[in-house]
Amino acid sequence: PRPIWLTRHGESEFNAQGRIGGDSSLTERGDNYAHQLAVWISEWCKKVKLETGYEGEVVVWTSSLKRAIKTAQYISQPKVVMRALDEIDAGICDGMTYEEIQEKMPDERAARDSDKLQYRYPRGESYEDVIQRLEPLLLELERTTQPVLIVSHQATLRCLYSYLTGRVKEECPFLNVPLHTLVQLTPKAYGCEEKTFLGDK
Ligand code: F6P
Repeated sequence: PRPIWLTRHGESEFNAQGRIGGDSSLTERGDNYAHQLAVWISEWCKKVKLETGYEGEVVVWTSSLKRAIKTAQYISQPKVVMRALDEIDAGICDGMTYEEIQEKMPDERAARDSDKLQYRYPRGESYEDVIQRLEPLLLELERTTQPVLIVSHQATLRCLYSYLTGRVKEECPFLNVPLHTLVQLTPKAYGCEEKTFLGDK
């Protein structure tokens, strides 16, 4: 059974400033995580080769955003950039902090608080929209036989994790997907075995 790994990108400039969305680069901490991740994957490959003789590749899927691409940059495995993995589009709120949204657009904040799953940012997306745009990717993931590492973002990973672990979608916008954490899901006959690795240093 092949593992599927899910990770958010390393800490970005916008994460450090508390801003949502954008296309900022990694901070030094984020870049450290990128190094840690590459070491972890290469050690996993070595270990599996020793134990099972598997010499195949790990496929790395990243979003098209700089912070995800840079998080995968030190991994020497084939990479595919997929726009379906981009973060939820926060529309007119892109680049703002949650406090700024609360201050300048209290009605938007209230609407989101009352139904986070269906709330769609003006000129942006809702969690429901993200779930829909991830459907073809999930089919492809199920067809792929190699181990896959997905480097993406908080909202998209909540949706993927929630689907893969069989949760109801109402839970999805509230799942905890911390930075600098690698979640390993191994499909089993019933459900998924779940382990987490790495974490902040
Ligand atoms: O703050 C990081 C981030 O990935 C934002 O870019 C995104 O809008 C947000 O998390 C999604 O989380 P929530 O839906 O809880 O606002």
